[in-house]
Amino acid sequence: MAATQTNNQRSIERTHLSENNASSDEVSRELIEGLQRTHKFINPKFFYDAHGSTLFEQITTLPEYYPTRTELALLSMHNNEIADCIGQKQVLIEPGAGSCSKVRRLLPSLQPRCFIPIDISAEFLTSSANQLQQTFPNVDVRPIAGDMSCNYDMPDKYKFLRKTVFYPGSTIGNYEPEEALEFLKHVHGQVGSNGGLLIGVDLQKDRDVLHQAYNDTQGVTALFNINILNHCNQLIDTNFDVSCFEHVAFYNAQACRIEMHLESLADQTVNVGDEIVFIAEGERIHTEHSYKYTLETFTRMAEDAGFKAVKHWVDGAGLFSLQYFTAI
Ligand code: AVJ
Repeated sequence: MAATQTNNQRSIERTHLSENNASSDEVSRELIEGLQRTHKFINPKFFYDAHGSTLFEQITTLPEYYPTRTELALLSMHNNEIADCIGQKQVLIEPGAGSCSKVRRLLPSLQPRCFIPIDISAEFLTSSANQLQQTFPNVDVRPIAGDMSCNYDMPDKYKFLRKTVFYPGSTIGNYEPEEALEFLKHVHGQVGSNGGLLIGVDLQKDRDVLHQAYNDTQGVTALFNINILNHCNQLIDTNFDVSCFEHVAFYNAQACRIEMHLESLADQTVNVGDEIVFIAEGERIHTEHSYKYTLETFTRMAEDAGFKAVKHWVDGAGLFSLQYFTAI
């Protein structure tokens, strides 16, 4: 166990923490630019401060929010078949791994040589990676603190092993389709030809089911959405009054996406960078798109990125999919 901890500390030290710190200017610029647009926008990645992450954890247990429990059930039910597809003794990489709770269902059957969880929150990642290492002593857990597209050195002894990226949670749905394609191309480059991708993708379905998943009766999703303004107030010198905004979420069937917005309840002004920005009553700040795919539309996109569809797993109600591709 002592050896394990040394391993993890070494891994964290090798990572790009300094790079993350240096980019706080970039963070401000990005937030300010979005809020000074005609159609105001805050990137959904800003949902996840400590409180936002707790609220998201709560969302995943709501009766209306089907994605997390459905995906977990798929991972548990099909873990042997998934391992047969991917193969054992490889390198598994998980961008945005966070608590590493989903990969726990895969590791017993998949038995990779090495697991590389990547997350921007170094502290959270270190503790979840340490716990994972203790449960799976035969897997070399090597956490990387950085964003998903950060570069890192693969240890020499793993360089020639097959690589698979695990990207659960339908996080891909937050990207605009063009960005999602770029992300898949990036993954393709990361795993190299013959590498793999196991990805969780939320599916198009009855619009009422979708609507309720983002408009839960307990109002947790509303708190999660509104909390982005608190986070914004912490990151830059905005002075949003959170009580002056209302959660709005709906399914845009034409664009195949859930849209989340914060609607202003009054005419108001907010300090944004060097400007005072006016927000009219009824005006909306756009905070999130969550795209929903069909097996066909997602496969086509993955193929455009150079992947070949191998197998997919869908629950009985057709709510959520796990899809496995290999890189050509
Ligand atoms: C984490 C992006 C998959 O889109 O369902 C949950 C985020 N937003 N409720 C999703 C979210 C509102 C979630 N993803």
